[in-house]
Amino acid sequence: MNKYYILAIESSCDDTAVAIIDEQKNILADVNWAQNTAHAPYGGIVPEIASREHLQKIPQAVAQALQDAQLSAHDLKAIAVTCGPGLIGSLLVGVQFARGLAQSLNIPLIGIHHIEGHLLSSSASPNFPQEPFIALIASGGHSALYLANGQCSYELLGETQDDAAGEAFDKIAKMLGYGYPGGRIIDELAEKGDEKRFNFPIAFRGKDNLDYSFSGLKTSVRLQIEKLQQEHSEVNGQLLYDLCASVRKAIVDALLAKAFLACKQRSIKFLVLGGGVAANSQLRAQAQKQALENKISVFLPEKAHCTDNAVMIALAAKNRSDLELVEDLKVDANAPFG
Ligand code: KG4
Ligand code: ZN
Repeated sequence: MNKYYILAIESSCDDTAVAIIDEQKNILADVNWAQNTAHAPYGGIVPEIASREHLQKIPQAVAQALQDAQLSAHDLKAIAVTCGPGLIGSLLVGVQFARGLAQSLNIPLIGIHHIEGHLLSSSASPNFPQEPFIALIASGGHSALYLANGQCSYELLGETQDDAAGEAFDKIAKMLGYGYPGGRIIDELAEKGDEKRFNFPIAFRGKDNLDYSFSGLKTSVRLQIEKLQQEHSEVNGQLLYDLCASVRKAIVDALLAKAFLACKQRSIKFLVLGGGVAANSQLRAQAQKQALENKISVFLPEKAHCTDNAVMIALAAKNRSDLELVEDLKVDANAPFG
């Protein structure tokens, strides 16, 4: 196979990320600059600030990636970019920069859906399964199950009807007085806790249904926190650890119950995880344990590639360019998935 390089840009939310992979899916550069300090004073992501940060940082991140890979822009075969979904301003900055770069180098521009990126974030592994496989994508914006039933072909099997799993973690962390991203903080606090201390409800939405719902859990945790505050004045120490462990258990149990149900319903033996919540230590451990029990092979991205990154966008672009599924003139921000 001829040597070639793909540079990918991911700017759908608050991470400015640029990666370069080669034709063997070797990662030559993986630049990821979080904008946490810019948004921290406002207690959440401010879309306008995110766009301005991307505008400032993308050119530097591209230069950094080329330097890390020891390449010149003229060595690139294609430019990939996340075209949706995400914050529209942030997406537009990434797409327009990528378009300009591709046009100036006279190479193709490959638009990638963010979820397809998460879905393929562990696909650099030589063991990554051929389709069909089930994918559980759990992030701050999405919680969904897909059947990858052919190359670049995905069927949505179920999704959250309200909050995403990561969003539930983030909102509960906020109730406890913590900042963003709350999922990682709750995960860490939960390590010292007893997950059986509190029994939080899991919405199953019917036994054969593959949709999720996390808003009931959020309300139930809020009521529990209010009760504990009345009894103990502050929720801290072991009480806090136990609460976090019980929340984590409820979310992990819900995510995995439907994921394994999807494998069973469709008689699929491969389960792929992706999205920021796939970095959760209990989700990873339980997925592996339950996979063994169910005789299913599970594929987990490295923790650094669960949350938003550009390597996953580069991998999805390589897949599409290998299959000649590249429509460069049509690339625009906020394209649908399918
Ligand atoms: O994939 P991602 O970076 O962005 C979206 O596409 O939404 O996911 C971010 C989400 C946040 O909600 C964050 O709280 C969650 O992933 N997250 C975690 C962990 N690390 C990040 N949730 C649970 N456990 C973690 N260790
Ligand atoms: Zn994401």
